Amino acid sequence: MSRNSKEKGKISWQSPSNIALIKYWGKHGNQLPCNPSLSMSLNSSVTTTTLSYNYKAKDKNVDLEFLFDGERTPLFEKRVDNYLNNLLKEYPFLSDYHLIIESSNTFPHSSGIASSASAYSALALCIMSLKKICLRDMDRKDFFQGASDLARLGSGSASRSVYGGYTIWGEVEGFTNYSDEYASPLKSTIHPVFHTFYDAILIVSGENKKVGSSAGHSLMEKHPYAKSRYQQAMNHTIEMIYVLETGNLDRFIEIVENEALTLHGLMMSSDPGYILIKRETIEIIERIRKFRQTNKIPVTFTLDAGSNVHLLYPESYRKEVIKFIEDELVALCDAAQWIDDSIGRGPKLLNIQ
Ligand code: PMV
Repeated sequence: MSRNSKEKGKISWQSPSNIALIKYWGKHGNQLPCNPSLSMSLNSSVTTTTLSYNYKAKDKNVDLEFLFDGERTPLFEKRVDNYLNNLLKEYPFLSDYHLIIESSNTFPHSSGIASSASAYSALALCIMSLKKICLRDMDRKDFFQGASDLARLGSGSASRSVYGGYTIWGEVEGFTNYSDEYASPLKSTIHPVFHTFYDAILIVSGENKKVGSSAGHSLMEKHPYAKSRYQQAMNHTIEMIYVLETGNLDRFIEIVENEALTLHGLMMSSDPGYILIKRETIEIIERIRKFRQTNKIPVTFTLDAGSNVHLLYPESYRKEVIKFIEDELVALCDAAQWIDDSIGRGPKLLNIQ
């Protein structure tokens, strides 16, 4: 750390959660994906993180205080401490400061929504901003690639949250511009129907998951269907790029639902197998399919590694879909909770001083 760099300051980023349309499930090496994934960044489900730094004599380890919702949380602090200490080789300036990291989410803690994507992307963006201050400048593209790479080391899906809109993480056959190390915005022209997509997150259960995603990824290592799954995800990614360009909603629905059910099929067929969906998850899925058939309205669903259902639909059907949620789905949600979210524009730098 050069003494010319700033001695003291504060950086705040707000970064979104994202929902994968093509799922990342299975990793190798240092958080590298076994297949490409493609996601939509959200608008309202976000984490805000503030990094305060104060220069001190260089230490061997990171000197950190971590606060979640204004309170010191030893479990998260330990996790973030490990994460930052593992970065020291590449980011040695991190041990030049006393660091205070304060983080909060817009979505309720008990909603079962995975916060790792928004949390690690917000933190990674703060670290990149500090790096930029230390280096005195950095190209915009390098900044976001670096942030995505850093976020990936915290949680794979977080790599995709440093951009808005549709994002790809992982090499894609036939494309030279996607990488396993960092995510990139989808580099094709998106059809207008996909510009204003909504995601109603139906909270089925706020309980902690019985099997977390790290354990789930590990079970893919010996999964009998792993090889064909990785090929399927590759094919789906390539096709989805085309579907998003052409606006083919029918095919969009088929691929998105197949990906969601495949993810949970892989969990059930792991050894040991496990089930994260609940009775209400299945009931909601069936109602969504029936509503689509009866009303000829292109609604679809996806699932993340839990029991909540993400109901995806184009803006033009907003009125009908909200009525459908209120009439039929809210009663199946835990404490009638659902989050009215939509495609978002990506992270925001809130403050740098
Ligand atoms: O980022 P992780 O390690 O929590 O894995 C997330 C995996 C899924 O959410 C199930 C799929 C995805 O691509 O986001």
